[in-house]
Amino acid sequence: MYGPIGAKGQRDLVLAFAEQEILCLGIEGTAHTLGIGIVSSRGRILADMKDSLIPPPGKGIHPREASQHHSLVAGRVLRRTLDEAGIKPKDLSLIAFSQGPGLGPCLRTVATAARALATFLKVPLIGVNHIVAHIEMGKLGTGAKDPLILMLSGGTTQILALAEGRYRVFGETLDITIANCFDVFAREVGLYDPKTPWPGPVFDEVASKGKNYIPLPYTVKGMDLQFSGLLTATLRKYREGRHRLEDLCYSLQETALAMVTEVAERALAHTGKQEILLTGGFARNKRLQSMLASMASEHGARLHVVQGDFATDNGAMIAWTGLLAYGSGIRTEIEESLVKPRWRVDQVPVTWAET
Ligand SMILES: Nc1ncnc2c1ncn2[C@@H]1O[C@H](COP(=O)(O)OP(=O)(O)OP(=O)(O)O)[C@@H](O)[C@H]1O
Ligand SMILES: [Mg+2]
Repeated sequence: MYGPIGAKGQRDLVLAFAEQEILCLGIEGTAHTLGIGIVSSRGRILADMKDSLIPPPGKGIHPREASQHHSLVAGRVLRRTLDEAGIKPKDLSLIAFSQGPGLGPCLRTVATAARALATFLKVPLIGVNHIVAHIEMGKLGTGAKDPLILMLSGGTTQILALAEGRYRVFGETLDITIANCFDVFAREVGLYDPKTPWPGPVFDEVASKGKNYIPLPYTVKGMDLQFSGLLTATLRKYREGRHRLEDLCYSLQETALAMVTEVAERALAHTGKQEILLTGGFARNKRLQSMLASMASEHGARLHVVQGDFATDNGAMIAWTGLLAYGSGIRTEIEESLVKPRWRVDQVPVTWAET
């Protein structure tokens, strides 16, 4: 049991529709991780279990293999989640699932499991947008109310803010994500950690040992970003063999993070927000946290960082967002529960938030 956490405003909103505390089970499975969480309408996280596919050294995730992984482990993860929460399936009032965006085969596996559970238990089903879920989980855990949002994960690099009932995109990558830029570089140079699906954390560690800055291309276009030229240039320098790997990781990291911080600073000035929320798996990057903290303090804004285990994909974020949507009257009928691999965050009406 993790106990009640977070954003009072959101909890009040949920309480307004449920006098009684209800429980939602959320299933996440857009990419490498199959996660199942159980959350209450008061924001209590009763359980959050996950099992991630770890690809072999130098390799990324193959969609079909990831979906096979999810179907193999789903039963076991479900059992562990119910045991951890200490509840029976009949105690659940709602099933939520990650409907998109994500890898098609993985999404279909999760949707099938969610439909089966909701039908068997005779409870409503809610399809949740994965990016919205990363944001709502960040808000719940940190208490951020109306922040500028940096949503940085394996598949997403976006700077957003809530405006007129949607999370609007103020800036984003035009090509690969920053997390992907670091992961691909790390894989190409042989950095590997058998404990995680990606080399992001080990890249972070090596970069922290670098001392000499090597100039690299810096590409900000208005409010948008590009990382593929930076990746190619850094790989070329690595292959020339004239620089220490630590210095190359350090220089790549400093350059890319400065680009993100520049766009975030401009978005902060433009929107006049008082808070910044950093969410998604890449939020764990320590150097980014410190760069954003100094930028925020220069502007008198407060930086909130999503809590550790809830940064990367998890089932609790799907359950919590399912509850928020349910509380504002949203339901997903079985016929409407087809997966949406390209579902953009700004297509989702945020019916539970005040703007
Ligand atoms: N400790 C860490 N330091 C730096 N980066 C990290 C750390 N932990 C995870 N990451 C990075 O976070 C990313 C994974 O995040 P997440 O699980 O949220 O992404 P995703 O689900 O693949 O993408 P999306 O949410 O856009 O679909 C990877 O690129 C990984 O390298
Ligand atoms: Mg994610």
